[in-house]
Amino acid sequence: MRHFSIFISSIAMSAIIFTTDLPQDACVSCHFEIDQDKDVDERSLTNILDDIHIQKGLGCSDCHGGNPEAFDDEDEAMWDVDSFLGTIERVDQPQVCGVCHSDPIYMRQYSAHIKTDQVGQYWTSQHGVSLKEGNQNVAVCTDCHSVHGIFPVNDPRSSVYALNVPETCNHCHGDSEVMEGSGLSNDQYDKYRISVHGVALLDDMDISAPACNDCHGNHGAIPPSVFSISDICGSCHVNNKDLFKDSHLSDIFLNADLNQCEGCHNYHDILTPTDEDLLWNDKDNCVECHQEIEDVANKMGVKFNNIITELKSKIDLANEKVASAENMGMEVSDLFFDLEEAHKILIQTRTSIHSFNLEHVSETASSGYKSADAAILGAEKAMEEFDFRKTGLLIFSIILTMFAILLYLKIKSLEKNK
Ligand code: HEC
Ligand code: HEC
Ligand code: HEC
Ligand code: HEC
Ligand code: HEC
Ligand code: HEC
Ligand code: HEC
Ligand code: HEC
Ligand code: HEC
Repeated sequence: MRHFSIFISSIAMSAIIFTTDLPQDACVSCHFEIDQDKDVDERSLTNILDDIHIQKGLGCSDCHGGNPEAFDDEDEAMWDVDSFLGTIERVDQPQVCGVCHSDPIYMRQYSAHIKTDQVGQYWTSQHGVSLKEGNQNVAVCTDCHSVHGIFPVNDPRSSVYALNVPETCNHCHGDSEVMEGSGLSNDQYDKYRISVHGVALLDDMDISAPACNDCHGNHGAIPPSVFSISDICGSCHVNNKDLFKDSHLSDIFLNADLNQCEGCHNYHDILTPTDEDLLWNDKDNCVECHQEIEDVANKMGVKFNNIITELKSKIDLANEKVASAENMGMEVSDLFFDLEEAHKILIQTRTSIHSFNLEHVSETASSGYKSADAAILGAEKAMEEFDFRKTGLLIFSIILTMFAILLYLKIKSLEKNK
């Protein structure tokens, strides 16, 4: 019976081997048999058929060394061969993977675009630095990319596909045992998960929102420094960055050793800012550093808030009026452009506060006031027009009724005269 099941499984295995692009070598044929005898949890080759390396025609010996021609003899295939590495130790991985991945000429045969800086970058990262010092807990290539199931990075099955990155990092960074001794907390994922970015990426699957690697780099994972944070946030929030960098606050922050965007927004637990953040209250972004209510910052915050509030109430009024005019059946499609424009400027005004320049903010808002006013005026005109038409219609129908009555009387008198 046992022989029979081995027979069946080797037929099944050969079927897999012969129907795929797996190299027909000694390593494969012998190891697939060994693997079959293992428990599912212990099998190391389960996903190897889909691995990008195998898909590209590489074999086991391209990573592990050995002699793939020696079909029947373990010793000839592995143990007696100088190039045979055996299982690849964690510390050796960057070097082994780097044999190909750091070689631009080799890699170009497969892909003109693939980068070849991973290993160099890796050694500059805190992971690499710490690995060199003997810390086995840090991430090596296969912790992020997996073993024997490595996919192209834009394949949704890849452990470093954007939507999977936070979990991949959290595997260690959320584990207090792994992080013990590093002096780092283990709450990055939990904070990130509730942030605007985490919600956008993981709930709304908006891959334009940053995963961990967008701020930390793929291979050079170090905390962004004081000087680079605004550049990192600014790679996506370009206008906020440009405005802030040009503001006189930028240098003040740098001199005070305050991290640019982070000082007001935090970094992992970034929440949706509101207009109230500008006001003197518990949630105020400014109070944290500007304790005195008389402080120039708090006064500025209140002024910004006033400008935005005024624009918002104008837009609300305009929306209301345009809706009423539309309900009356008037043609108001032009006014929707004004409303849209005003709304766009409201968003720009919120961004413009990063100039920390009152004049700039009120200038930005003023074109929003104009658009909202135009919509209000347009809607009022449409409503007047409606009233005018309504009165006109009334007069017209009175005349019409009177005419009908006259006609009726005329017909009646003609009938009498007959
Ligand atoms: C005739 C069978 C056979 C052939 C051929 C063979 N292996 Fe093995 N290999 C084994 C056995 C048996 C072991 C040890 C048992 C195990 O897998 O745990 C092993 C172990 C390994 C290990 C783990 C070594 C360690 O240090 O733990 C690697 C890696 C490996 N083989 C790769 C290869 C490669 C690459 C080739 C081809 C060049 C190859 N094998 C050819 C049977 C074979
Ligand atoms: C892209 C490189 C790469 C290729 C290709 C590759 N391996 Fe591995 N393999 C590794 C690395 C790295 C490790 C060490 C993983 C770890 O530290 O957990 C490993 C570990 C192993 C081990 C020991 C771990 C275990 O689970 O017992 C065996 C056996 C093994 N590989 C066999 C193979 C065979 C057979 C093939 C071909 C079918 C193959 N490998 C193809 C990179 C590779
Ligand atoms: C801390 C996690 C991590 C470690 C460690 C890591 N990588 Fe990556 N790797 C990534 C991420 C994230 C990406 C990019 C995903 C993307 O672009 O969406 C990536 C991308 C890649 C790519 C695709 C080309 C590129 O650069 O974008 C290759 C090849 C690669 N890694 C190889 C390696 C090698 C070799 C090592 C070991 C020296 C390694 N990686 C270590 C996370 C890691
Ligand atoms: C023998 C050469 C070789 C070795 C050794 C090697 N790779 Fe590769 N790797 C390749 C080739 C070739 C590709 C396919 C490139 C392509 O076509 O995009 C590839 C692709 C990849 C990709 C997908 C890149 C993409 O297109 O998004 C990752 C990730 C990767 N390798 C990681 C590793 C890791 C981790 C190791 C070490 C455990 C390793 N590689 C060892 C040659 C190698
Ligand atoms: C295998 C576990 C593991 C994985 C996976 C991992 N890390 Fe790490 N990482 C560590 C350890 C451990 C340290 C602390 C190193 C030390 O003590 O110097 C660290 C350090 C860091 C640091 C430096 C922090 C500082 O202030 O020194 C950053 C940033 C970082 N990791 C980001 C990431 C990102 C982003 C990912 C996912 C793309 C990731 N890590 C995946 C284990 C891991
Ligand atoms: C929007 C950008 C951004 C994203 C997304 C992000 N980080 Fe960070 N991270 C930072 C900044 C900025 C710092 C440095 C803060 C400082 O030093 O003041 C940092 C610091 C860290 C540190 C050092 C310890 C700490 O908590 O300060 C680790 C570890 C880390 N991040 C891991 C991660 C992991 C894991 C993820 C994904 C779950 C992630 N980061 C997502 C920007 C980001
Ligand atoms: C990879 C691009 C990217 C990076 C890097 C990035 N963000 Fe974002 N951010 C986004 C996207 C996309 C959204 C919109 C999410 C949504 O749908 O609500 C967003 C939303 C925000 C919001 C909320 C805006 C709103 O109106 O709700 C703030 C605040 C923010 N990010 C601040 C930051 C800060 C501070 C950093 C740097 C520490 C940063 N971002 C880094 C892409 C990025
Ligand atoms: C992370 C700390 C921090 C936060 C939060 C913060 N500031 Fe400041 N700000 C400073 C420091 C430090 C100075 C220089 C010392 C001072 O004047 O109090 C400063 C100075 C200023 C100044 C005076 C510049 C000058 O001309 O001297 C203005 C205006 C200002 N901040 C506006 C704001 C506004 C508005 C907010 C809230 C949206 C805010 N700041 C939030 C740290 C902060
Ligand atoms: C001094 C405090 C402060 C600093 C520094 C700061 N912000 Fe803001 N930010 C705010 C406040 C307050 C709001 C809310 C404005 C509102 O909604 O009325 C805001 C709103 C935002 C928004 C949402 C509105 C919009 O523009 O879409 C984003 C995104 C943003 N900030 C990104 C950044 C980035 C990126 C940096 C660094 C270049 C940065 N902020 C620096 C205080 C600050």
